[in-house]
Amino acid sequence: FIGSPAKAQKTLKIATEPAFPPFEFQGSNGELVGFDIDLLKEIGKAAGFQVQFQSMQFDGIIPALQAKTVDAAVSGITITAERQQAVDFSRPYFKAGLAIAVKSDNQDITSLESLQNKRVAVQIGTTGALEAKKIPGAKIRTFDNAPLSLQELLNGNVDAVINDAPVTLYAIKENNLKGLKVTSQLLTEEYYGIPTAKGSPNLDDINRGLTAILNNGTYEQIYRKWFNA
Ligand code: ARG
Repeated sequence: FIGSPAKAQKTLKIATEPAFPPFEFQGSNGELVGFDIDLLKEIGKAAGFQVQFQSMQFDGIIPALQAKTVDAAVSGITITAERQQAVDFSRPYFKAGLAIAVKSDNQDITSLESLQNKRVAVQIGTTGALEAKKIPGAKIRTFDNAPLSLQELLNGNVDAVINDAPVTLYAIKENNLKGLKVTSQLLTEEYYGIPTAKGSPNLDDINRGLTAILNNGTYEQIYRKWFNA
C-alpha cells in the first residue's frame, strides 16, 4: 500500500440528505446507512481518506459545496448539465431515472402528458421537481424529502409523485406500501455522481477510489447488499 501506516489520513466532510432509502437513511440506532454510505466509506478506504457525514436539506447540498463547508456529497445526486456549471462530478456510479408513482387502482395516469392539471408531489431541489414544472397546469406540492411525498400520495392528497425509480420501488417493496404502484414508463435516464466544489483536489482521490472498488468487486458487493441482486 502507498504511504506509511503511521501517516495520518485526511477526513473528508460528506454532505447527504438522509431520507432516501436505500441510498441513505437512518438505521434502527439512528446511524446513517445505505448504498451511498457504504460506497463512500469504501471509496475512502481504497483512496486513503476518512469520511465524516453531514446531513442537510437536499437543496442545501450544492450551495454547501460551493461555500466549501463540505468537501463532497453523496445523495443519489443526478449529474446534470446545469449542476455541472456549479460543481464538479466524479465518474457516474449508478444508473437511475424518474418514475411516476400513483395509487394502485389508478388507471388514467400513465405518462407525463396524463399528469396535466393533476396534483403532483416532489422533493424540493430534485430532478423530479424540475420535470414536474414542465407539466402544463400541474399543481405541484413540494416536500423536504421523498418519503413525505409518497405519504401524501397514500393519504390521497396528491394524484402522483415524481421521484427516482429505485427509491420509489424500494419504498413500495420494503415499507409494504400496498396501495401504491409505479407506472410502466421511466421518464428519464439519469446517472448519479459524487460532486465536489469546482477544481477540488479531492475529486481525483474520489475517482481513484471509485475506480478501484468498481474493479475489485467491492462495488458489486455493496450493490448486492442493498438491491438483493
Ligand atoms: N436524483 C435526484 C436528483 O439528483 C434526486 C436525489 C434526491 N436525493 C436525496 N438524498 N434526497 O435531483
